[in-house]
Amino acid sequence: MSQSTDGGISTMDTEEEPENLGDSLEKSWRGVPMEAIHRNLHPFELENLPPVSAGNHHRVLYQLPIRDTPPRPHKSPGKWDSEHVRLPCAPESKYPRENPDGSTTIDSRWGMIERALLQPIESSEELQAAILSYNTTYRDQWHFRALHQLLDEELDESESRVFFEDLLPRIIRLALRLPDLIQSPVPLLKQHKNASLSLSQQQIACLLANAFLCTFPRRNTLKRKSEYSTFPDINFNRLYQSTGAAVLEKLKCIMHYFRRVCPTERDDSNVPTGVVTFVRRSGLPEHQVDWSQSAAPLGDVPLHVDAKGTIEDEGVGLLQVDFANKYLGGGVLGHGCVQEEIRFVICPELLVGKLFTESLRPFEALVMLGAERYSNYTGYAGSFEWSGNCEDTTPRDSSRRRQTAIVAIDALHFAQSQHQYREDLMERELNKAYIGFVHWMVTPPPGVATGNWGCGAFGGDSYLKSLLQLMVCAQLGRPLAYYTFGDTELRDDFHDIWLLFRSEGTTVQQLWSILRSYSRLMMEKTPKEPREGKACKKTLYEFIREELKKDKDGPGNGSPAEAGTSKAAGSGEAICEAKPLAPAKISPELTKKPVLPKAAVSQGSPDLFPTQESHDSDSSPEQVILMLSDDEETNAMMEAASLEAKNSEEVSNSSTPAKSSSSSSKTGGGRQLTLLEMLDSHYEKGQASKRPRKAPNCSKAEGPAKSRKENDEEDKKDIVD
Ligand code: APR
Repeated sequence: MSQSTDGGISTMDTEEEPENLGDSLEKSWRGVPMEAIHRNLHPFELENLPPVSAGNHHRVLYQLPIRDTPPRPHKSPGKWDSEHVRLPCAPESKYPRENPDGSTTIDSRWGMIERALLQPIESSEELQAAILSYNTTYRDQWHFRALHQLLDEELDESESRVFFEDLLPRIIRLALRLPDLIQSPVPLLKQHKNASLSLSQQQIACLLANAFLCTFPRRNTLKRKSEYSTFPDINFNRLYQSTGAAVLEKLKCIMHYFRRVCPTERDDSNVPTGVVTFVRRSGLPEHQVDWSQSAAPLGDVPLHVDAKGTIEDEGVGLLQVDFANKYLGGGVLGHGCVQEEIRFVICPELLVGKLFTESLRPFEALVMLGAERYSNYTGYAGSFEWSGNCEDTTPRDSSRRRQTAIVAIDALHFAQSQHQYREDLMERELNKAYIGFVHWMVTPPPGVATGNWGCGAFGGDSYLKSLLQLMVCAQLGRPLAYYTFGDTELRDDFHDIWLLFRSEGTTVQQLWSILRSYSRLMMEKTPKEPREGKACKKTLYEFIREELKKDKDGPGNGSPAEAGTSKAAGSGEAICEAKPLAPAKISPELTKKPVLPKAAVSQGSPDLFPTQESHDSDSSPEQVILMLSDDEETNAMMEAASLEAKNSEEVSNSSTPAKSSSSSSKTGGGRQLTLLEMLDSHYEKGQASKRPRKAPNCSKAEGPAKSRKENDEEDKKDIVD
């Protein structure tokens, strides 16, 4: 039995099955079998969260103990303030109603909503009209082309009729039960707060029915300083006006969910009877781990690395990672359709987290326990397709929660991949994973099921991210199941280096020291075009091997490489070169230095987080980049600016074809994207907090740009309700 460095006793069996070649040829996985990841216990034996109990830091919206199924709503006086969700049925929720004589009266918004939705609705145009009737501010902006396409074209005549005659009335009836089902204030899980919220699945279905019908007030303005500008969107209007095949497939998943959970007039036996808990974790900078002091042996982590399978299918009973956006759900109510968005539409109860979870800060995470899976799917991103019903048989815990624990942690988005090797940014990723994986119970922590976190839309290097997550699991004494999503080379390389760590007894602090050397090396080497693909990523592992070998050969071979001194580095060509950070053109107002928390300054390496006094010196543009690094909006602006710069450079020397990049700033036809359009794409990837107002030259299709005055008018209206 080994003592994990965080005090939790980890009876981790790290013995690996003897491998024979024949075996490994057909096995899609390497390392220890899943039984060892489950510590040779039943997959659901270990708990991720304690049982639900109401308290100051845990609000429960249903009555405890649970006597009825589904649980009955807890009752307490409603709140209309900045700490709680502004429910559309609140008496304070008002809306200006235009009278026939042109005058306007301030009316109860809920009354308007009821009147609009209880009218017969027999087509998607009528549905759009009903929704807009209590969202008049957006009458000229919202168009529901995806909803029309699904209901008028994608579904056949009979399916469409069933929707309008059966399913839509059920969704509406459930939505209008909001005053019955939610009878206590819904707290916002705000930044800098450790807080939990538990709701019944029935209450979640009711809230999501309201999101489907876009009834939540004040959640639609794009004004950057509006009350919910730091919250994800919750009303489905953005989904209805998005384009692409995946949007229709996501809508099918959501409609299927409502088919499953909305009671009919005669029968409510299909209403789910369980509970879901959302836990916001917010760590303090001074509580961050000092990774240079962690003696946790990396080889002690039972590692199962599999090129096949997915986190949601194989990670049964484990803490499953959501490769999140800081705005929970990312582009799920837009165009997005990668790991997080897919998880949120096959388990739609996760969507309700968007209603009350403020965007995640660097040392924050959100754990979600109890969400049920309702749909199966095939494909990914553009090829994503709904593929039918899923009966989730995951057992429930003593609090009636499906024992599926998901943790949302948002990686940094690296537009230029070499940024990710910067020490402070690697540290940010370590601390983000730490606050997500930390286990606040005395029982041993279940294993973690993860994969290429931050290595898809966010452009990270899976060779680095796999090691960072291994370090955190070592520190916390958690087994690690890593799914490489088809990358057999990564599987083998990750497994091989883990074997090396095990044979050498490499600790977290040793690896961290090597990574910091690599970081300095990457910053100092003269720029050569970084080799694309594996060759570049493999050099990280080669560098680590070299350094471990030097350590092993003992003194006289120097401590882990100082920048530029290691043999591998000395040979130069073995190490993937990277351009030193090109100082992005940062507009003056963006170079205002944020006041970094004192601890953050002491935590970061001095040259990267200069002390307050040195802020006054003119920090290099690179340092400004690092100091702003956790402000995605700034990143997006900088990236867009640098893309702008890069493209104008490429246009000038037209000999070099513009490199395609995930965030290419060129449209298909080669037209330069406007800064707004580039930000738009960052919004989808969660980079920009909210898209600013339309630029004057926005395309006709999107209608004329609103003036600032008109927008302010809207916001005024918005605030009324
Ligand atoms: N199981 C295991 N691995 C997966 C799965 C899955 N179900 N889905 C995808 N992967 C792997 C793929 O290799 C993918 O490239 O994880 C990688 C990263 O997935 P992304 O979703 O691109 O995650 P990330 O790079 O962190 O980007 C996050 O994308 O989904 C949005 O809202 C999210 O804005 C955020 C951004």
